[in-house]
Amino acid sequence: MEPRSARLSEWAKHRAWRRFHRSRGFRHAVLLARWNRARHRMPDVAHLAFYEEETALGPLQRDEALFIHALVRVLRPEVIVEVGFFRGRSALNFLTALGGSGRLYSFDLDEEAEAAAVQFFAGTPNFRFTRKSQSRLSAADVDGAAIDMLYIDASHDYDLNVATFEGLEPSLASGAVVVVHDTGTWARSQLGPRQRVATEENPGWWLSPEEFAHQPGERRFMNWIRETYPDFAQLHLHTVRTPRHGISVLQRTAPLPLP
Ligand SMILES: C[S@@+](CC[C@H](N)C(=O)[O-])C[C@H]1O[C@@H](n2cnc3c(N)ncnc32)[C@H](O)[C@@H]1O
Repeated sequence: MEPRSARLSEWAKHRAWRRFHRSRGFRHAVLLARWNRARHRMPDVAHLAFYEEETALGPLQRDEALFIHALVRVLRPEVIVEVGFFRGRSALNFLTALGGSGRLYSFDLDEEAEAAAVQFFAGTPNFRFTRKSQSRLSAADVDGAAIDMLYIDASHDYDLNVATFEGLEPSLASGAVVVVHDTGTWARSQLGPRQRVATEENPGWWLSPEEFAHQPGERRFMNWIRETYPDFAQLHLHTVRTPRHGISVLQRTAPLPLP
């Protein structure tokens, strides 16, 4: 028979583990108590607590940032190219997810974006900002490197996106993942004040009385890739259950080699 103390400790562990699964507050308390050990294992996502959720109109929404952060951690890209830096929200999300020797090249044509890049990331060794239009990007802008992840979130203009893709497609690594922001739709019932203004400014962008394509240029761009590069599979992470901007994930598809 086990001594009483061993049985008690087993019982306490069982209770604690049960609570761990049932209570967020308890998990936070355990994390704080073990912070010194656990922080090295925690994903570097503190910034996400300060990102807007569905109210964000231009930049990445919080849940989309969470997804992209995870994608980077899962894929461990060496080279990420971001087209559309704005004030660096997606760049910070990429840089906190990138480990080891991974590097981020960001492009934007806006003067204030350049100032923000200097303010926030000057001296960051694995980051380079270039002020340049997306339509003029080519292999030379990424030092001839193979691009593992290409993120497009700039002008939302069909022609400029096509030019961007044509300029960078030859530099994509064989398993490269292309992520395009703003390809989704909003449901009328989900519109917040900022989305409502956008619908009033573009009354021709309704797909139906209930569904609004908030960046039709991005959707048309997706359809162009589908026609022009049919070997790229497209996964559209869209929902109308919340005002989601929508992310599309593309990758060249081929049978998996077998032994
Ligand atoms: C939606 S914001 C990018 C948001 C950013 N990815 C984030 O999540 O924080 C779009 C950015 O694209 C830039 N942009 C617009 N047209 C562009 C072009 N032709 N070439 C490069 N950047 C452009 C704008 O200056 C703006 O900063």
